[in-house]
Amino acid sequence: MAKVLIATEKPFAPEAVQSIRETIENAGFELALLEKYTDKAQLLDAVKDVDAMIVRSDNVTAEVIEHAQNLKIVIRAGAGYDNLDLEACTAKGIVAMNTPGQNSNAVAELALGMMVSMARNNYAGISGSELKGKTLGIHAYGYVGKGVATIAKGFGMKIYAFDPFIDKSVMLNDGVEVVDSVEELYSKCQYISLHIPANEHTKQSINYKLLMSMPKGATLVNTARKEVIHEDDMLKVMTERQDFCYVSDIAPDNKEEIAAKFGGRYFFTPKKMGAQTSEANINAGIAGANQIVAFINEGDRTFQVNK
Ligand code: 3PG
Repeated sequence: MAKVLIATEKPFAPEAVQSIRETIENAGFELALLEKYTDKAQLLDAVKDVDAMIVRSDNVTAEVIEHAQNLKIVIRAGAGYDNLDLEACTAKGIVAMNTPGQNSNAVAELALGMMVSMARNNYAGISGSELKGKTLGIHAYGYVGKGVATIAKGFGMKIYAFDPFIDKSVMLNDGVEVVDSVEELYSKCQYISLHIPANEHTKQSINYKLLMSMPKGATLVNTARKEVIHEDDMLKVMTERQDFCYVSDIAPDNKEEIAAKFGGRYFFTPKKMGAQTSEANINAGIAGANQIVAFINEGDRTFQVNK
C-alpha cells in the first residue's frame, strides 16, 4: 500500500486535511501527517518510508531526499516551488509537481487587502487615499496577477502589466494595458503588485533604480517572495523617499531596521498568509492528493516541474 505524507510546518486548515485524507484513503493508500514540526530531524524521520509527500513552503532539500528512500513524487501544494531541490529530485528519479492556480484567489485578495490597508494608513485614524483612478502595475501575469487585475478593476484602478512569458492578448483581453519593459511598468505605476517567482534570474532584482522610478506616493506590494527584493536598496529608497511604502506577505530579513525607521510606511505578515484560507488549502491540498493518485495509478505527470 502506497504511503503518502503531508508534511506541513504551517498546517493546512483541518477541513483541507480531511479532504486530502478522503482522497488518499479512497484510493486505497495510507496517509501520514506531520504538522507544525519544529526540528528538521522530525521531517527526516517522517519521510523515510513514504512513497509520496505533500508540502507547502517546507524545504525539501537534498538531505530530505536522501532520507526518503521510497519517495517517488513530491507535491508542492501551491505555486512557487523554490523550496524544492529539483536537482536532487531529478537525480533520484523523483517527480516534483506544483498545483498551479489552486490558491491564487486567496493571494490576489490579500494583495488588494494590503493595498487598501496601506492606502488608509492601516486604519490608524489618519486620513488616507483611495485606489480608484490610481495606476497599478502587475509584475508577472500568472494566475495571481490575473486575479489581482480582476479585483483591481472593480476598484477602478488603471491597470498595466509586464510579463514576457505570457501572450499579450491574454492581458489585453482582460482590459489590461501591456508595457514592454519592467522599467516602463515601474515608472508608470504608483502601485506595483509583484508576482514573479524566486529564481536565479529574479532574486534581488527589485532594486534601487526600479523603486526610485515609481511615481510619487508609491507602494510596493509583495505577495511573491521576499528574496526578489534587494533589501539594502529598499532600505535606501525608504530613507530617501518619505512617500514610499512597502507591504509584504512575509517580513524581509531587515525588518527590525525598517520597523525602527519607517513606522506607518510598512506592513509585514508574521508568516506567509497569502494562501492561508480554508478554500485555498482545500483546493491546493485536494489537487495535490489527486495528482498523487493519478501519478501512482496511471503515471500521469501533468504539472511536473522537474522535466
Ligand atoms: C505559493 O507559492 O503557493 C504561496 O506562496 C503559498 O505558500 P504557502 O503554502 O506556504 O502558504
